Amino acid sequence: MDKVQAYIQENKERYLEELMDLLRIPSVSADPAYKKDVIATAKFVAKELKKAGAQKVELCKTAGYPIVYGEKIIDKKLPTILVYGHYDVQPADPIELWESGPFDPVIKKTKTHPQGAIFARGACDDKGQMYMHLKAFEAMMKSKSLPCNVKFMIEGEEEVGSENLGPFCKKNKKKLAADVVLVSDTSIINNRTPSITTGLRGLSYLEVEVTGPNRDLHSGVYGGAVANPINILAKMIAEMHDKNNRIKIPGFYEDVEIVTKAERKQMNEAPFNLKNYQKDLGIKDVNGEKSYTTLERTSIRPTLDVNGMWGGYIGDGAKTVLPSKAYAKISMRLVPNQDPKKITKLFTDYFKKIAPPSVKVKVMPHHGGEPAVTPTDSLEYKAAEMAMEKTFGKRPIPQRSGGSIPIIALFEKVLGIKSVLMGFGLNSDAIHSPNEHYGLFNYYKGIETIPYFYQYYKELKK
Ligand code: BES
Ligand code: MN
Ligand code: MN
Repeated sequence: MDKVQAYIQENKERYLEELMDLLRIPSVSADPAYKKDVIATAKFVAKELKKAGAQKVELCKTAGYPIVYGEKIIDKKLPTILVYGHYDVQPADPIELWESGPFDPVIKKTKTHPQGAIFARGACDDKGQMYMHLKAFEAMMKSKSLPCNVKFMIEGEEEVGSENLGPFCKKNKKKLAADVVLVSDTSIINNRTPSITTGLRGLSYLEVEVTGPNRDLHSGVYGGAVANPINILAKMIAEMHDKNNRIKIPGFYEDVEIVTKAERKQMNEAPFNLKNYQKDLGIKDVNGEKSYTTLERTSIRPTLDVNGMWGGYIGDGAKTVLPSKAYAKISMRLVPNQDPKKITKLFTDYFKKIAPPSVKVKVMPHHGGEPAVTPTDSLEYKAAEMAMEKTFGKRPIPQRSGGSIPIIALFEKVLGIKSVLMGFGLNSDAIHSPNEHYGLFNYYKGIETIPYFYQYYKELKK
């Protein structure tokens, strides 16, 4: 282990420069304008993987962006770790709120990152975290101390729903055969309090369209007599929650897993300061389902949120118009035992039911994904726990996260492999927001911790 750690220390600066190069390529998977860049990013990752010592490195074609694959098999009898990550990033907008260019990485010190953080889109989610695995692998290879077999599967469509990864896994079960999936695409509590993610929420994402009159109308001539689809949509959205912030869709909570009192108690013992949370977000109060704490609302409880809403005139100045159409994008975060397909259907039925006869409504489902929970009594959890305890000097706390990585449930279903979610980001790293960043402390801590995971996992598997 000392040799690996020494190699990491000696190569720290280069490791950072390489990540900055990776962050300069705008791999926005949602926007076709970046197609060339997304592919260039896949090639960058493949090249680095090869340089680090991986074999059979290839860009696997899919109906969308390629999946980067590479492996190093040292001994068939040893355990195999499958590393999953994504090289695509979220769109950068609203661009005007960035203090530096989203694809022009800079290092700045912040209160939470006194040692400095890299500011760029994808710095934390997930280029920075994914790249830690390549660099840890390089260090193990170059110091001739790789303890087990490893396979890399780095995709370019996570931020748009991983639609082609499921079919890829189904077609390549043999190629992807492994003992565990190792993922760094989640957060820790803070830099003094490591944690391991033991749950992810599922997702149902859809778009709604409400149509009133067959064309935009003069809001004076017709206003007051014809349904305004934006007014109606706003009312319908308001009909989604009751006064206790519970979702009113019939059957919505039917399958929600009931978490025991003991587990809830333990969950709320994790370090969390409501005052600081509010201060960080610039809010005077939090808001959510009655009888649940903020930690519970963002982990074990499902949600319904409008992600965007539009229609009518939104240009400069005023235009007096009664719009013909109104739209909204709505997401529901789901918890264990809720089925995204069923929830989408329940939403659609309810939405149609509450629509007044003065409008027509359409519901268009986007991507979805199943929730996932990972046990804390498995070998892989234990290995991650030991690895983090080694490098942080403190035993990590198991914690469920509010985010979603739909493919995790699929790995278990299709490949029959359990995942361990050993992420190193912070919730305050502004992923998906302007000024996303990733702490240098976190980047290096990740690179240092990963080889210990390999080592302990191999020892525990014996
Ligand atoms: N890495 C995130 C998910 C995440 C973030 C999990 C923080 C835990 C903590 C991932 O890239 C992501 O953003 N997922 C999307 C879902 C996807 C289907 C677009 C999400 O959660 O919105
Ligand atoms: Mn991610
Ligand atoms: Mn993301």
